Amino acid sequence: MQKITIAIDGYSSCGKSTLAKALAQKLGYNYIDTGAMYRAVAVYALQNQLIDSNSKINENELTAQLNNIDVAFSFNPHTKTSETLLNGVNVEKDIRTMQVNDVVSKISSIKAVREKMVALQRLMGKNKAVVLDGRDIGTNVFPHAELKLFMTADYDVRAQRRQDELQSKGQYFTHEEVKQNLMSRDYDDTHRKENPLTKAKDAIVLDNTDLSREQQIEYVIKLIADMQLVLDKV
Ligand code: DC
Repeated sequence: MQKITIAIDGYSSCGKSTLAKALAQKLGYNYIDTGAMYRAVAVYALQNQLIDSNSKINENELTAQLNNIDVAFSFNPHTKTSETLLNGVNVEKDIRTMQVNDVVSKISSIKAVREKMVALQRLMGKNKAVVLDGRDIGTNVFPHAELKLFMTADYDVRAQRRQDELQSKGQYFTHEEVKQNLMSRDYDDTHRKENPLTKAKDAIVLDNTDLSREQQIEYVIKLIADMQLVLDKV
């Protein structure tokens, strides 16, 4: 079987990472959560007082400090998932807070931040056999990925999923608060100047509003199997 690159893009809380992780595990591929990388930069900015109480980011200072920011992943054999490291410290919990949700889209729209993260993502994925999820993977990071998926789902379903996820970590917000946060992040992600979220022309749309996790995996594994038949002939 040929090793391929799988690019999964789409809106916030559409189940991209759940699908990406499951695919990586099934195929024995590496998984790169590119959103986690922007979240780690947001944690750095918060820890270093580069965001004021009105959520205004000190972009010049953050850009000047980019060389001090090292983002990496480390595999946790107990949970069988990779966890995010910021300057060698595990920040997997810190990157999933509402405080980070509120600022991460703005952080990810800073040109220098994107350039650094995209370069790192290309390096991490250069040997193929990789699943990446994010907003610009199929359009910008790996425009030649063999399989591109664009995920979407109904707003209320997405808000419910995110609310459940936050609640499981002891963070309580109303459905409406979570939904508003998703809507505002979608707006920022699709309207920013640098590599906004758009569907790559050759991406396959996967609307998972009414699909179980298993149905989605089954569907994509079938796509990959069909694709291998074509690739093996080349
Ligand atoms: O997938 P996520 O919610 O963890 O992503 C966090 C933020 O990072 C999201 O608001 C958009 C941004 N992002 C991006 O701009 N490009 C990517 N490749 C991945 C995430």
